[in-house]
Amino acid sequence: MSDKKASLSIDGKTLDLKVHSGTIGPDVIEVSALTGNGYFTYDPGFVSTAACESKITYIDGDKGILLHGGYPIEQLAEHSDYLETCYLLLYGALPNAAEKEKFVNKVRMHTMVNDQMSTFFKGFRRDAHPMAIMCGVVGALSAFYHDSLDITDEKHREISAIRLIAKMPTLAAMTYKYTIGQPFMYPQNHLSYSENFLHMMFGNPCEPSNVNPVLAKAMDKIFLLHADHEQNASTSTVRLAGSTGANPFACISAGIAALWGPSHGGANEAVLDMLNEIGDASRIDEYVAKAKDKDDPFRLMGFGHRVYKNFDPRAKVMKQAADEVLAELGLEDDPLLKIAKRLEQIALEDEYFIDRKLYPNVDFYSGIILKAIGIPTSMFTVIFALGRTPGWIAHWNEMISGSYRIGRPRQLYTGPATRDFVPLDKR
Ligand code: CMC
Repeated sequence: MSDKKASLSIDGKTLDLKVHSGTIGPDVIEVSALTGNGYFTYDPGFVSTAACESKITYIDGDKGILLHGGYPIEQLAEHSDYLETCYLLLYGALPNAAEKEKFVNKVRMHTMVNDQMSTFFKGFRRDAHPMAIMCGVVGALSAFYHDSLDITDEKHREISAIRLIAKMPTLAAMTYKYTIGQPFMYPQNHLSYSENFLHMMFGNPCEPSNVNPVLAKAMDKIFLLHADHEQNASTSTVRLAGSTGANPFACISAGIAALWGPSHGGANEAVLDMLNEIGDASRIDEYVAKAKDKDDPFRLMGFGHRVYKNFDPRAKVMKQAADEVLAELGLEDDPLLKIAKRLEQIALEDEYFIDRKLYPNVDFYSGIILKAIGIPTSMFTVIFALGRTPGWIAHWNEMISGSYRIGRPRQLYTGPATRDFVPLDKR
């Protein structure tokens, strides 16, 4: 706690409130004393609310800083890899060589899903959205792994974390294969995490898999850049679900549902839909005007962020990765990608976007890379979910291993005051 105190005067009464200081970042005023005095705080959208204490990730939105365990995202993206970053999120420190090997092997040994799972897929329509299938099959893991559902047991929590990280690529690829009517591909455990994912996505049983290492590297970077982002909507959903004592598979399924929306992870799919709708560079001005029109609900997808008001540091790394992938694949002249680049340039120079500090976010560039890699648009948000899984599970585990209470927000009630029931014939 800090030496500072905050006081709130209301109706001639002064309430002293505790102030907490973090390692870095703004001090936090504890408002729990308000309840006993007949007040709640009101903060729609949680714009000024710290919902928990956490040691995992730090964001400074004004300076464009993102740290995992204190390490800047740019350094992790350059020198680390996805599974090492997963370890960092889960255990709070970078692994040494032996710890890393053990962790990678553990993940490798859990990539296969229970064979019964394949029949579960058959209950879905082939044209179901992959995120609809993912919400179902990830939640269904809790029906398959009864041996790791005691959330008070540290070892159970750990094995559930490993299972989720290991099985998400398998389930994601099965989802894709199911929607296109191809047989599921078994994981190949000699491949790296990202190679294995591309093998299960694009391989087929008739031919040996041939994964392009440049694309696997780009895929790994996409996963890493999505791995965690402190208390965003889906992570807060996972924490809230977890605070009831629900099992981790159910909680992550809740996170996937929250991620699906176009204001959150669904934006990467929406970016490509928008670029397709624009269709030609000559129509960009029309769409920029629509985005600026207060009476039009249209927004430029892939622009703006609740926290980043300078730039999104993930977007910077992602843009560089996008350039590398486009060059590798010789796609610099792809018409849709040309529209994206022109749109980015126009928006960055437009007063409306400059005044509101609306910059391209991570989803703007990730959509471009994913399209270049050949991932179908409807799978984009699934890729985000896969990448975010270690963040969700790390936050869930941090909460469960500390002291926590069920998350139960209150409200500002504006409905009718007490009134007497009116019998049907008198209404
Ligand atoms: N296009 C046009 N105008 C925008 C946009 C946009 N993409 N985003 C925000 N604005 C305007 C908004 O109309 C408002 O203008 P005014 O002050 O004149 O009323 C101002 O900017 C502030 O917007 P807000 O809605 O109060 O901001 P927010 O923090 O509640 O919303 C956001 C953040 C990310 C939901 C929003 O910027 C948005 O809808 N962006 C498009 C969707 C998107 O790309 N989402 C991915 C976010 S990054 C990955 C992730 O976190 O999942």
